[in-house]
Amino acid sequence: MKKIVVLGSGNGSNFEAIVKYFNGNTDIVCISNNKDAFILARAKELGIKNFYIQHNDLHDFFKKNHFDLAVLAGYMRIISPEVLNLCDFINIHPSLLPDFKGKNAIKQAYDAGVNQIGVTIHRVTNLLDGGSILKQVVHKVKTGISYEELEEEIHNIEHQTYPQVIESILQEGFEQCEY
Ligand code: GAR
Repeated sequence: MKKIVVLGSGNGSNFEAIVKYFNGNTDIVCISNNKDAFILARAKELGIKNFYIQHNDLHDFFKKNHFDLAVLAGYMRIISPEVLNLCDFINIHPSLLPDFKGKNAIKQAYDAGVNQIGVTIHRVTNLLDGGSILKQVVHKVKTGISYEELEEEIHNIEHQTYPQVIESILQEGFEQCEY
């Protein structure tokens, strides 16, 4: 069975979507650098192995544990090259990268008044929201939509798209995968 680790610092809604999509046919481990993060509570509720691991201890963790893929889902720290050497990492970001990198990307885009917004899934490098793009979903911003409505639409797109990209990487391989 393939084995993945999902890393998050906060809410964990993408993590939950991934767990539900794979429905027991992939070994999933959850780690968070924030011991109070809701992602850890979700993992407990869903019966998924979960660990609080400080960011600086990630290297040790990946030395000791092998995964077919490491999935960042709201993990709000840069992964060092030493850790990136130990596993293949992907990330999801709620913008059409390279636009609106960093925190609160949906709000940044909403405030900028763009008429297209989106979601990007990409391989991870040690540059903020950098790395080659695996998949981008473009979404039109409806006239008059509130920020909250737009945020919900984007999260729904994330929850549908991320598990599918993970599945295709697990089937085709990290290097080969051209989504
Ligand atoms: C998601 O929208 C994800 O794209 C974003 O954090 C949110 C986490 O939500 N990631 C970034 O902004 C990375 N720069 P979740 O914890 O509910 O999955």
